[in-house]
Amino acid sequence: MELFSEERSAEVVAESFGQTADPRLRQVMTSLVRHLHEFVKDVELTEAEWAVAIDFLTRTGQKCDATRQEFILLSDVLGVSMLVETINHRSGGGSTESTVLGPFHVVESPPRSLGDEIALDDKGTPCLVSGQVTGPSGDPVPGATVDVWQANEDGFYDVQQPGIQPPGNLRGLFETDADGRFWFRSVVPRFYPIPDDGPVGELLGATGRHPYRPAHLHFIVTAPGFRSVTTHVFVADSPYLDSDAVFGVKESLVRDVPLVDDPARAATLGLGNPFRTLTFDIRLLSS
Ligand code: BEZ
Ligand code: FE
Repeated sequence: MELFSEERSAEVVAESFGQTADPRLRQVMTSLVRHLHEFVKDVELTEAEWAVAIDFLTRTGQKCDATRQEFILLSDVLGVSMLVETINHRSGGGSTESTVLGPFHVVESPPRSLGDEIALDDKGTPCLVSGQVTGPSGDPVPGATVDVWQANEDGFYDVQQPGIQPPGNLRGLFETDADGRFWFRSVVPRFYPIPDDGPVGELLGATGRHPYRPAHLHFIVTAPGFRSVTTHVFVADSPYLDSDAVFGVKESLVRDVPLVDDPARAATLGLGNPFRTLTFDIRLLSS
């Protein structure tokens, strides 16, 4: 084996993975080594900086538990989550665009019936959320599963506030009707900061970045015979649409959320008046 040298460090270490039986693992490890060595040489990393990085990654791992995933958060603020998502779900414009999953899909959404209220904490501006799931040619997809989750009026998900929010608050698992339609009652999502009380927050602070995400509602839509879509719908008048801390915004996912002042319709729907409406149709590609 060639001995280690500064000039040929990447080649020497990459070669040590040359006998890896799994060809994909071999490709990933040799490429990773090449890029890591190039990075260290590019910035001429000091020993003190290397120690800071090791400490940062150690604390990132220590911050993780059943409901907190600091490594996903790190991947998110580096734009890696969005890049992986986008590379793996190229749709050529044929389906609803995907975006980042985020770290809060950590519990199963409770099954609900069409029209149900998912805001269980009596907070926020009432909002009727509805849409239609269709296939590539626009045909309705009945029986599709629509999994939704969002933060509450204060900008927290239920799993971030056990004992304060009821479990399953602002989450729901719906099934589309015979016309591929879904609808439910909720509240208008609000912009919120990603959890910034850990190492990732320190990184944002040290680099002058804010932690905010624009107002959004998460969706995972699945149906037999179709490729599933993990996405959000974003509220058009939300702050931070052009500076999402995790780079999740795509123009095709932004919707107006108009105000409706119609006491009779509000009463029929079981919503307070006035209320707002958010319409988000979802197109799936065949699998
Ligand atoms: C979210 O939208 O739930 C989210 C996404 C990335 C990081 C933090 C939160
Ligand atoms: Fe979110």
